[in-house]
Amino acid sequence: MSDQSQNKTHPNKSRRSFLSGGVAVAGGVAATALGARAAVAAAPDPLITEIQEWNQVLGDGVDAAPYGVPSEFEADVVRRDVPWLTADPISSINFTPIHQLDGIITPNGLCFERHHGGVAQIDPADHRLMINGLVDNPLVFTMQDLMRFPRENHVYFLECAANSGMEWRGSQLNGCQFTHGMVHNVMYTGIPLKLLLQEAGLKSNAAWLLPEGADASGMTRSVPLDKALDDCLVAFKMNGEALRPEQGYPIRLVVPGWEGNMWIKWLRRIEVGDQPWHHREETSKYTDLLANGKARRFTWAMDVKSVITSPSPQMPITHGRGHTVLTGLAWSGHGRIKRVDVSLDGGRNWQTARIDGPSLSKSLHRFYHEFNWDGSEMYLQSRAIDEFGNVQPTKNELRAARGDNSIYHNNGIQTWQVRTDGETENVEIS
Ligand code: MTE
Ligand code: CO
Repeated sequence: MSDQSQNKTHPNKSRRSFLSGGVAVAGGVAATALGARAAVAAAPDPLITEIQEWNQVLGDGVDAAPYGVPSEFEADVVRRDVPWLTADPISSINFTPIHQLDGIITPNGLCFERHHGGVAQIDPADHRLMINGLVDNPLVFTMQDLMRFPRENHVYFLECAANSGMEWRGSQLNGCQFTHGMVHNVMYTGIPLKLLLQEAGLKSNAAWLLPEGADASGMTRSVPLDKALDDCLVAFKMNGEALRPEQGYPIRLVVPGWEGNMWIKWLRRIEVGDQPWHHREETSKYTDLLANGKARRFTWAMDVKSVITSPSPQMPITHGRGHTVLTGLAWSGHGRIKRVDVSLDGGRNWQTARIDGPSLSKSLHRFYHEFNWDGSEMYLQSRAIDEFGNVQPTKNELRAARGDNSIYHNNGIQTWQVRTDGETENVEIS
C-alpha cells in the first residue's frame, strides 16, 4: 500500500503530522519528493480503486504451517555463501543477511553457520557432557541432569574472528552480508558454566579448560578458567526455542564477547588443566602474523566495531533524493556501545547517530541516522565507541599496527560509496 492509500482508508493523524512536520523541517528537497508522490496518486490507482483478490477469498487456516515460516515475499532473506571462499559445504561458512534485518535480534533461521565437519545430528537422549581433568569428581551429565541446574537468559553477539577478514588488504566483497555477516545476536538460555565446574569441584591448580565438540571435527579450544567462572554459559535455547542443529543442538558453549571459534558447539566434554593446550586453533589458526615475524595469539575479545547495513551494496537507495534512513549495527566484546558516529563524506565530518532498542553488554546495538539526501555522491562510514572508551579504528590504523598478513580481528571502519543514482559499492578511502 502507498502512503496515500493508508491515509485515505485509515486516516492516521500521527503519520500525517510526521509527513507535514518533515516538510517543514526538511525544506525544498523533501517537499519536491512528497509533491511528486501526490501527483502520482492523483491518477486512479487500481490498488486503491479495485478490491484485491486477497480481500475476497478466504486465506489458509491455522493448521497450514504448524511451524511458522516467513511470507513468500521475503524469500530472498536468506543466509548466503561466497562460492570461491568455501569449496565444499562441509567445512564451510554462510553469512547472516544483516542488510535485510532490523532491531538487534537475529532470527534463528538466519544465524550464519560456521562448521568444520558438517552439522552433527544428535538425539538429546544420547548426548552426554563430561567434565574431567583437574577436578575432585569427574562427572558425566545427561540432558536431564543439566535441566535441573539454575539457568539464566542473556543476549550476546557471536562474531567469528575471521569476520571481515577478506577485507584486510582492501575492499573485496560487495555487500555487508559478506563483509560483516559472520555475526549473530540471540538470547541464550543456559546454565552458568561456573555451576557445573563447582559441582565437579576444581583442584587448586586448575587454570584452563579445553571444551570439545561432538561433531566430526571434534573442535577444541583452550579457554582460561577466569572467563569460564565469569560469564560463560552452557546454552540449550536460542531466542526461546531449542538450539538449531547448525548452532550446536543440544548444547553449546557461550563465551560472551570472545571470538566465535571458542563457542564450542555440540559440547561433549570439558577437560580442566593447569595450562593452555596448543592445538590447531591456538597455533596455525586464530593467530596473526605481524610484520616483524612474530605472531599475536590469544586475542580472544572481539573489539569495538560497527557497520552501516543500509544503504549498502545490497541495499542501494532506490527512492531518489529526500528523506533517507541510514541504519546499522555496532558491538563490542568488552561491554556496551556508548556512541556511534556517522559520516556521509568519508570521515571528514561526523554526526552522532541515534542508538535505538536495548543497550546490552556484549550484544549488537542498532543505530539510525535520518537525513535528507541531496542526490550527490556520498562516502558512508560509521565509527563505534564502547563504554570503556575504545574507538573503532580505520583500516589504515589497523594495518599500521599489524601489517598486511592478518585475517582475524578486522574491526576497521567500513566505507560504502553511494553514487548519484543510489547504487552503492564497497570502497576504501586512503
Ligand atoms: N564448534 C564445533 N564443535 N565445531 C565447529 O566447527 N566452529 C566454530 C564455533 N564452534 C565450530 C564450533 C567457529 S569458527 C565459529 S565462528 C562458531 O562456532 C560459529 O557458530 P555458528 O555456526 O552458531 O554461527
Ligand atoms: Co569462526
